Parts: sequence; C-alpha cells; structure tokens
Amino acid sequence: MTELLADDAAGRARAAALLRAGELVGFGTETVYGLGADATNARAVAGIFAAKGRPHFNPLICHYPDAAAAFADVEDNAAARALAAAFWPGPLTMVLKRREGCPVALLTGAGLETLGVRVPGNANARALLWAVGRPVAAPSANRSGAVSPTTAGHVLEGLGGRITAVLDSGPCPVGVESTVVDLSGGRAVLLRPGGVSREALEAVVGAVEMGVPILGALRSPGMLASHYAPGLKVRLGAREVRGNEALLAFGAPLAGAGLVFQLSAVGDLAEAAANLFAGLRWLDSHGEGLSGIAVMVVPEEGLGLAINDRLARAAAPRG
Ligand code: TXA
Ligand code: MG
Repeated sequence: MTELLADDAAGRARAAALLRAGELVGFGTETVYGLGADATNARAVAGIFAAKGRPHFNPLICHYPDAAAAFADVEDNAAARALAAAFWPGPLTMVLKRREGCPVALLTGAGLETLGVRVPGNANARALLWAVGRPVAAPSANRSGAVSPTTAGHVLEGLGGRITAVLDSGPCPVGVESTVVDLSGGRAVLLRPGGVSREALEAVVGAVEMGVPILGALRSPGMLASHYAPGLKVRLGAREVRGNEALLAFGAPLAGAGLVFQLSAVGDLAEAAANLFAGLRWLDSHGEGLSGIAVMVVPEEGLGLAINDRLARAAAPRG
C-alpha cells in the first residue's frame, strides 16, 4: 500500500523521514510530480528505475532547496549563476560538472561526470527538500513510457503499491517538465525544451545552441560520446575467465580472475544496479596491465534490463 500524505508540515516531515530512510516518495513540483529518492543513496536510486520499469539508466535530475545547496555539489560558472538568479526557483535544470567529493551516487547521473540540478518552483517542494537535507533525485513519477503525472491521483494510478508514499501537493501548475540546459562545456546547449523558453534563456546568457538529449544520443549502443566508457575492453556473458581478465561478478564469482568487483554476491539486481557504475570505474582504475573485463551473466529481467543495456554500451566497439 502506498501512503497518501497531506502536503502539510506533518506530511512533509513524514515524507522527509521516509526519503532519508531510503524509501521512494512521490511529490509535486511546479512542473510534474517527481518520484523522489535520496540521491546520495545508490540503492534508493536503483529503486526508482525498478519502480518505473525503465529498461535503461538515464541521468536523473537532482532537486535542491536553493542555488547554494545545488552549487555545493556541482561547479557553477557565470552563466549558471545568471540563470539561477533569473529562473530559480523554477522549471529550469542545469547540467554542470560534479564537484570533487560530490556525495551524489554515480547511478543518479548514470555514471556521467555531470549532474542535472534544479530548484523547484513551489515552496512546499522546497520545504520538503530542506527537511530532507540531501539532494533528491526525481524523474517524473510514472511508469516508463506513460505520460507524466500532474496530480497525486495520476501517481497512484501508475505507481500505487510500488512506492512507499505520495505527498498530495495538488495539481502541478506548469504541467510540462523543466527545460534542461547544459552549461558544463562553457557554452549553453539546450537538451530538453520545457517550462522556460529558449528565448527567455537567451535574454540572460546570449546564444543557446540546440543539443541532442542524452537518451536520444544513446539510442544505439555504439554512441557513447558523452557517456563513460571503461578503457578496458568489456566482454559480456562470461562463463569463464580468459587469460588476464578482471571480473565483474554477479553471484558466486568465476574462478581465475586476479581482480574482482562483486556487483551482488547474493544475485540481487537492485544491489547490482547500485554498484554498477562504481564497479566499472573501480575495475578500470585498478586494472592496469589486464587484458579486459569479463562480465558474468546478469538475468534479463527487472533491473537486469537496464544493467544489461548499460553493459552493452560499455562493450560496444568505440569509434
Ligand atoms: O520537471 C522536471 O524536470 C521533472 C520534475 C520531477 O522535477 N523531472 C524530470 O526528471 O523530468 P528526469 O529525471 O525524468 O529528467 C531527466 C532528463 C534526462 O533524460 C536528460 O534529458 C536530462 O534530464 N539530464 C539529467 N541529467 C543530465 C546530465 N548529467 N547530462 C545530460 N542530460 C541530463
Ligand atoms: Mg519522464
């Protein structure tokens, strides 16, 4: 049963406590309802992908109560500060580089060096975020492929029974997702149109280029341009370790690897999803002199779909 919480002080305190405990909580923003999880807790974030039934990991937006909190986790610059002053709180997401020591889980950003951050426009959402005291990852609170929810009732229709609670914040006034602009490369690149128009952005920062959203760019496994790819060659579906390979294990590890990273000893897909990006990076940075990474079979069910999708990208030939 999913709890329906009133968006008052008591309801928000309950929602904040649940989020801090690693539970999934839907909440209203000015754009659409978000499916929230503690962005610093990889297990909780894995739960978002499981609840949505998403067959791939895409980078999730991190929500903060104010610009100072957001810029503590990502590197700001003049354009970002100007856009924050003009449009935050509000329906704008900025993609910026993670700071050294950024506490947000790698899974939240799908392993990227950047993070999408935003400060939502409605005061109740910000009050919730203050109470949580941690960044909250939140994609739209619908099953994968369904339309974005703008009432608590929509959230329950799609995700009832799959998430712990929904804060009933009333209907969302904007109704379309936030505009996503990438400022991490010294230029402003529009990745997703949304609640703030391109013209409004250009009035503040000058020319805004049109970009390709990360998912569009990643539809085919070979297109890894902006995604992390390990330097070591990745071999999928390994049933034995060959030669000098490192092993990315799932369940009882295959014998013979000098270097092993365990995704989940008990074969738990949520644990494996939570460990995936950290594991690829760890093997890559510790695997000097090894011939590649052998990846054990991960079942093609539940979160296994998204894990295998990401592993297929890591194994795809680089051009
Ligand atoms: O209005 C909204 O933004 C809603 C509410 C709940 O705040 N949230 C939302 O989140 O739409 P989400 O996680 O579904 O949006 C994720 C999209 C990605 O598909 C990608 O287009 C972009 O935001 N994005 C996030 N982080 C990114 C990054 N590091 N690099 C490039 N694009 C990123
Ligand atoms: Mg969505």
